Amino acid sequence: MRAVRIFDTTLRDGEQSPGASMNVDEKIQIAKQLARLGVDVIEAGFAISSQGDFDAIKRIGDEVEGPVICSLARAKEEDIKRAWEAVRNARKKRIHTFHSTSDIHLKYQFKVSREEALKRSVEMVKLARSFVDDVEFSPMDATRTDVGYLLEVVDAVVDAGAGTVNIPDTVGYAMPDEFGKMIKAIKERIGGRAVISVHCHNDLGLAVANSLSAISNGAGQVECTINGIGERAGNCSMEEVVMSLRTRRDFFDADTNINTEEIIRSSRLVTKITGIPVQPNKAIVGANAFAHESGIHQDGLLKEKTTYEIMRPESIGLQSTKLVLGKHSGRHAFKARLKELGYDLTPEEIESAFVKLKHLADQKKHIFDEDIETLVSEEVSKTPEIYQLAGLSVSSGMKKEPKAAIRMKVKGKVVRKTATGDGPVDATYKAIASITKTKSKLLKFEVKGITGGTDALGEVMVSLEENGKNARGNGADTDIIVAAAKAYINALNKLAARKK
Ligand code: KIV
Ligand code: ZN
Repeated sequence: MRAVRIFDTTLRDGEQSPGASMNVDEKIQIAKQLARLGVDVIEAGFAISSQGDFDAIKRIGDEVEGPVICSLARAKEEDIKRAWEAVRNARKKRIHTFHSTSDIHLKYQFKVSREEALKRSVEMVKLARSFVDDVEFSPMDATRTDVGYLLEVVDAVVDAGAGTVNIPDTVGYAMPDEFGKMIKAIKERIGGRAVISVHCHNDLGLAVANSLSAISNGAGQVECTINGIGERAGNCSMEEVVMSLRTRRDFFDADTNINTEEIIRSSRLVTKITGIPVQPNKAIVGANAFAHESGIHQDGLLKEKTTYEIMRPESIGLQSTKLVLGKHSGRHAFKARLKELGYDLTPEEIESAFVKLKHLADQKKHIFDEDIETLVSEEVSKTPEIYQLAGLSVSSGMKKEPKAAIRMKVKGKVVRKTATGDGPVDATYKAIASITKTKSKLLKFEVKGITGGTDALGEVMVSLEENGKNARGNGADTDIIVAAAKAYINALNKLAARKK
């Protein structure tokens, strides 16, 4: 059985999804989850692109054990030096450098000849190798590059010391058969001298198909993202490629090191942090991926699961919602459950989450794993709280003007305000806006129920924009208006923290 490496680029290409930017703490949370998931390489960012990216790569290198930590770098001296500074303390480190090779890019964007591009690529791979043994090179827009020239570049960068050559379908143009043939030709040229990687975009909906075709033709690494997020239509979806290999091991005779039971948790975390929802019919992680509606299918399933199920929901970490804790559960049971769920929290974080759990147990009879995950992620992604919600009472209904009376702590001082609006959320938001004097615009407002039932925790995600800066906020509560207020205040705190 051939091993296929998983190179996760959720924190780099994934972050290039419109509106998906993440702060350093959020990136650390995702990186830790990626390590639990068992990815081989984490592309933690593009060190030279911003101080935030640099800091995130550095902290991930310091704090996350297991995967190789990688930074992207253009084929430029300053980029490679900055990438090295960012990854140098990581236990396992890689520099990933790239240069376009297609005539379209060379002529119109970079205005350099093929010879110059080749020379620079080789020089920069050598420079990166002077810092670190593990160097990856990508000929950008490879699938629209003349194949003879592409083979020449790949051969030269491998000779210069690249241990991995990554073939990007930058604009999502390739067809599976065609891409497979390209990978086969590269394999024939470089043999076992370097690992062939692929990086496919999903503009024609073929990123996963192209990646699988590449694996069949000799690729040993796939670059992908959780939920398939990424530039434009996104990247190859990790969960789809991993579960294809696992489910059809008989066909591919290849598999990954991924602990598939961590897939659903990774998917939910990325949705929560980026604010990008997963479509219900998305393969593997969509809400309907394991839901059987047709009577004939349900009948078959009751008789024998394999009649209509090619994968077990448990294999991606989905459990039939499990009752875990209740009103009378103590700290020990809570701590033990956190450990089983793979969370490593400080004693203060455990205590604060435990207080919230008790509060929730007063409102809701059954506490599920999903509820605990929501409480915990509130804990670990805490933002300095300039604004705090201290009390909220709302009146609304048919033929009644919605009205909200709110109490907030602003830098420790209690402030009260009442407002009316088009609905209870609108009234609440107007009251908050008048206390905080925010000039931000609400870009997105989404409500989701965690677990089922009318007493379920409701989660609200909002996205705000102020002076070109975006911030997302989350809030969860059994009262959906309170959840909405918490989400708005969370986003306002993030904007305030950024201003500082
Ligand atoms: O899509 C692309 O070509 C990239 C490269 C930087 C690998 O993201
Ligand atoms: Zn890309």
